[in-house]
Amino acid sequence: ILLLIAAWLTKKISSLPPESRVLDRSDFPDDFIFGTAASAFQIEGATSEGGKSASIWDYFSHTFPERTNMQNGDVAADFYHCYKEDIKLMKELNMDAFRFSISWARLIPSGKVKDGVNKEGVQFYTALIDELIANGIQPSVTLYHWDHPQALEDEYGGFLNPQIIEDFRNFARVCFENFGDKVKMWTTINEPYVISVAGYESGNKAVGRCSKWVNSKCQAGDSATEPYIVSHHLLLSHAAAVQEFRNCNKTLKDGKIGIVVSPWWLEPHDFTSPTDKEAVERGLPLELDWHLDPVFYGDYPEIMKKRVGNRLPSFTAEQSKMLINSSDFIGMNYYGAHFVAHLPHIDPAQPRFKTDLHFEKKTLNHSNHRIGPGDGIIFSHPVGFRRVLNYIKDKYNNPIVYIKENGMDDGKKSSREEILKDTLRISYHKDHLEQLHKAIIEDGCDVRGYYIWSLLDNFEWEHGYSIRFGLYYVDHKDLKRYPKDSVNWFKQFLNRPVTKS
Ligand code: NOJ
Repeated sequence: ILLLIAAWLTKKISSLPPESRVLDRSDFPDDFIFGTAASAFQIEGATSEGGKSASIWDYFSHTFPERTNMQNGDVAADFYHCYKEDIKLMKELNMDAFRFSISWARLIPSGKVKDGVNKEGVQFYTALIDELIANGIQPSVTLYHWDHPQALEDEYGGFLNPQIIEDFRNFARVCFENFGDKVKMWTTINEPYVISVAGYESGNKAVGRCSKWVNSKCQAGDSATEPYIVSHHLLLSHAAAVQEFRNCNKTLKDGKIGIVVSPWWLEPHDFTSPTDKEAVERGLPLELDWHLDPVFYGDYPEIMKKRVGNRLPSFTAEQSKMLINSSDFIGMNYYGAHFVAHLPHIDPAQPRFKTDLHFEKKTLNHSNHRIGPGDGIIFSHPVGFRRVLNYIKDKYNNPIVYIKENGMDDGKKSSREEILKDTLRISYHKDHLEQLHKAIIEDGCDVRGYYIWSLLDNFEWEHGYSIRFGLYYVDHKDLKRYPKDSVNWFKQFLNRPVTKS
């Protein structure tokens, strides 16, 4: 009788309109994918095992430990050894998919295919993919999540040099040849904006370069020029990989490939100020169009060409052709928003990336609810999620979008017990899923999947292990995993069978 009542209640509740009850997966389209996401350097550990060479993040964290919270990725969450147990966790969570990246340094230690492919690397990723599939979890592979072999940096300066495009093409081809029969979803470059701006403007992340007036701790670079060069080579690497994929894919059915961008939504710092509103209008093209216009239309946005001038590289006709329509879908990572203000100051003697588009990200002193690492200027903004999806829909003719990351660190708490009670994370996901649902159902945005960042607490780049994005807490002393309350929430959210309409 109790079971009958429960079934009746479930039916009753799910027949209510979504706005009057808590959403669950049955409110999303039948083939909508829910997954968790991670990246090689952040979880694998085993950085010098199995024939892997040092990546730029191994080098950065070991050479400048003070820039990664005195920590490194040597052990991380030890996913290299624990992947089978972790896949069990994904299964218990009722996830459909797992997004992970292939470490270039593990697969091709010198960075160059001509020097040989590491068999142990192929074996590791084959075993991982097989285990996922055996457990009913679709693999989604990122080719570049920030960790190319340091050897390429030493030899020719990594992404500052166009030579990397052919090496990336070859690395991508090895991935498609070895794993393309089983992996149907690929992404090329994760967050080109962050790679270029954090790596070559602020210098917070590897390779840690910038002009000395931006941050005196950086390696000497040119922060007004290098981010644009690096993004240019990232985009061309993306296009080269897609070209290989489409050649290979003639024999591999059903595969899809795309780039992953990471827009923050922008709001005017002062809502009444027309100049701050204009700053938002100039800021969004930098957040998004900088990397999306090329993959749709083969060129940079006009506003950037005009304002950055000859520091912005240009594409040849052949390169543009390669780039046009080079993304089957848009991968999008969304975390929150920034307030931006007009920035009038320009000193021609010290050109700065920020002053190219005359805006700066600013802290708003009240209602600032931090959702992750950073300088306190980011805030949780679920409505911005819907807005950015509509921006993409309107601007790029409603492309297919997958949310490849969404998640939060819920602040510095002292004890494990406290961290496990992650009510803030639960409301963060609930609120974002509500806005996503509206974007799909009410606005018609073509979003097909949602990946949570992240399954496990992991190495959060310049913050080391001081930041925890996982649904599972990882004790970095003994590597044990503990479910946070959000695990239960997601289990229930995903448990509901999809009702075919
Ligand atoms: C985006 C990056 O892709 C990922 O590596 C990082 O950990 C998360 N943001 C959280 O900061």
